Amino acid sequence: MAKMWSGRFTKESSRLLDEFNASLLFDKTLYEQDIQGSMAHAKMLGQQGILDTEEVNAIIEGLQQIKKEIESGTFEWNIKDEDIHMAIEKRLTELIGAAGKKLHTARSRNDQVALDFRLYVLQKDLYFVSLLENLIQTFVDLAKKYKGVLLPGMTHLQHAQPINFAYHMLAYASMFKRDIERFLDSYERNNYSPLGCAALAGTPHPIDREFTAKELGFKAPTINCLDSVSDRDFALEILFNIATMMMHISRLAEELILWSSYEFGYITLSDEYATGSSIMPQKKNPDVPELLRGKTGRAYGNLMALLTVMKGLPLAYNKDMQEDKEGVFDSVHNAQISLIILNEILKTMQVNQKRMYQATKVGHLSATDLADYLVQKLHIPFREAHHITGRAVALAEKLGKDISDLSLEELQKVDPRIQEDILSCLDIKNSMEARDSYGGTATRQIEKQIAYFEDFLSRLKRDS
Ligand code: ARG
Repeated sequence: MAKMWSGRFTKESSRLLDEFNASLLFDKTLYEQDIQGSMAHAKMLGQQGILDTEEVNAIIEGLQQIKKEIESGTFEWNIKDEDIHMAIEKRLTELIGAAGKKLHTARSRNDQVALDFRLYVLQKDLYFVSLLENLIQTFVDLAKKYKGVLLPGMTHLQHAQPINFAYHMLAYASMFKRDIERFLDSYERNNYSPLGCAALAGTPHPIDREFTAKELGFKAPTINCLDSVSDRDFALEILFNIATMMMHISRLAEELILWSSYEFGYITLSDEYATGSSIMPQKKNPDVPELLRGKTGRAYGNLMALLTVMKGLPLAYNKDMQEDKEGVFDSVHNAQISLIILNEILKTMQVNQKRMYQATKVGHLSATDLADYLVQKLHIPFREAHHITGRAVALAEKLGKDISDLSLEELQKVDPRIQEDILSCLDIKNSMEARDSYGGTATRQIEKQIAYFEDFLSRLKRDS
């Protein structure tokens, strides 16, 4: 059968060209958006008197039939049709005859693909928001459950100061909240319809772009068609948002891997979400967090690939842009399962509070509290206090103790001005609770942070 665009050609295209040129095998992912867009376009053509009512009805019914065929697996995919747009249009004409050939009036595949892909990305922006909401809820639940549980806070992966496990969980809630905001911003910025832009310059037909924009749930039609048919910023934005979100996921994944090692032992991954070794029978491997970490690399690659495809393209549409879709589908697919499985891992892992507490008893986590005590109680300049504290740490090391276990007598050997009230300052729990400044780790601050994230989640629910 002759190609839709074969009018000026005298020879059939080569099989090699067909295979190289076709996007059908991957852009069939967009079948729903394509049908949705065509229905809106047909209704508009009817409203404007470009098609008559019977033609519009036949088109709508034909498209519904095609949707059923695709979803039941009876639709015949043939790469000779090149892409999803022509595959559906060809089938429509088979089904309803002449009216099918009128659907493409005042439209081009350039605005059609821009529309389909944009609809897909906008729907995914919102889906990511809902998956991230579930994840933040899990961090809030963990924070409530483990409020007051101590673990060593680290910098340079070295023991620094004691913190609350809830605090650590809510640090991740903060990252994923920013991710939600990025997806929502992208949604708002890109929520404009390119349909009706035709090939690049608009159309002489009396179309109504406001109508199709409203029909498809957009805020309005885009303002400049030359830009609209070649704009892929919405795709780049979702790739960037996913890459950044995966970066956050990979940081947590790294901590889960460390924490589930014998050396840390802070958590035990549920058997449901851990794997064994084919040779070492004792092993329980954190494959899931490792894959989460690995998939992050792929998400970065997809972002770089599309940025590079778009670089230096002259206006307007160029076939290079067909390379925009696979990376987005790949990033979306992987990020979706990543968020879902990460949430399950967090909900099912065992938190080993005892191990975390034991870890706070090494590394002199409350050393800063001695320096703060010397400044606050004895008005010793901080630099000097820092030095005195260093001597206390050296003494503790010599005695094979943690600084929080030094006796008053031992501390007074370091500096005789130190009084009995130092002992409660050096206590690990008190040290954590002392960090009660806004945004700090003290349980009183955790209460505020929990309320903050709960309020954020309930506002999201209200606005959606
Ligand atoms: N399959 C094409 C793509 O994904 C659709 C647009 C084709 N437009 C064109 N003028 N050849 O980009």
